[in-house]
Amino acid sequence: MTDTAVHLTAQERDAHLELDQLRQLVGLVPYDESTDVFPVTGWDAIVFVVGNATQTAHYYQSAFGMELVGYSGPETGNRDHKAFVLRSGSIRFVVKGGVDPGSTLHEHVRVHGDGVADISLEVPDVDRCIDHARSIGATILQEPEDLTDDHGTVRVAAIAAYGDTRHTLVQRVGLPGGDWSAYDGPYLPGYVPRSSTFVKRDGAPKRLFQALDHIVGNVELGKMDEWVTFYNKVMGFVNMAEFIGDDIATDYSALMSKVVANGNHRVKFPLNEPAVAKRKSQIDEYLEFYQGPGAQHLALATNDILTTVDQMRANGIEFLETPDSYYQDPALRERIGQVRVPIEELQKRGILVDRDEDGYLLQIFTRPVQDRPTVFFELIERHGSLGFGKGNFKALFEAIEREQEKRGNL
Ligand SMILES: [Fe+2]
Repeated sequence: MTDTAVHLTAQERDAHLELDQLRQLVGLVPYDESTDVFPVTGWDAIVFVVGNATQTAHYYQSAFGMELVGYSGPETGNRDHKAFVLRSGSIRFVVKGGVDPGSTLHEHVRVHGDGVADISLEVPDVDRCIDHARSIGATILQEPEDLTDDHGTVRVAAIAAYGDTRHTLVQRVGLPGGDWSAYDGPYLPGYVPRSSTFVKRDGAPKRLFQALDHIVGNVELGKMDEWVTFYNKVMGFVNMAEFIGDDIATDYSALMSKVVANGNHRVKFPLNEPAVAKRKSQIDEYLEFYQGPGAQHLALATNDILTTVDQMRANGIEFLETPDSYYQDPALRERIGQVRVPIEELQKRGILVDRDEDGYLLQIFTRPVQDRPTVFFELIERHGSLGFGKGNFKALFEAIEREQEKRGNL
């Protein structure tokens, strides 16, 4: 008999999430891990390398409502850099910035600006994943090794993904019959628990989002299929929705996008490449300013996008504007039908709606969150739809192009 049950991860249990919630929030599905060549349990951490981690850690607390839970830096014996661990629901962000003038993190920032260096994934068996990845010819950046401290042991390794992005693989629980129990430190060995004196405003919800839904990767023209094949062959990911051509072309901008996901769909990677258009697309702009492929946006799943948007706006976060014409378009109103709130509530906040055969979703996008026009965030509230807002791509791209124009990059 095959075991297709999905189980909560430790991060999800810590956040008091339940399987039913995760099915709704991120479209979690059962699958048979025993036949997976490269089983992936879910996200482990998103590691940002930034110019000033001390201040970025404050931003994710004050603007995104995240909680500081862990730290590594000179005071803990790490003389190279400071790293802050932040949580919201099952999501873990780690922000790193160089302290030693010779730290290699400075070079990452010089080339890319602030960005996502590592999309780290939790796996049940690091060695099995690395053996498979090696057999397919993937680039192994770090061979499997045990890291241990007072909280226990984790086994880690890393493989190369697009551009300078890597996937660190983290095994937090020993194999059956082995001698480890689950690691119980704040993140990885070497990190210490840390809290902050930051106090949320009265009435703020305990968190603004519960889980990570997807991370979009931008790759060069002609490279999308290569990376889809990488995720299929090396990491055993399955193909999801596919968007090509007119669906996501505006007069000036065009792109191609395909989506891959791990077996249980916790981890979803839309991969974009620019398509030939009249003028520079948003993907070209990203590739120019990030100086190559990289993570473009991270979609944060919330069960109450209205409250989340109101809170984040009050915290100073800027979202892309949606023209009133979007909400007045009779074809759109017809297509989206009934959603849980009046359209006027969405219009007031600029929240987009999309519907497909499985249900609908609400979504909104922030402006880039650092100086370069590269990384940004999406908030997403799913109601049955497992899509990515295909019906909104055109409206969204037109909004992005208005911003590009203001920056002089169109
Ligand atoms: Fe997205």
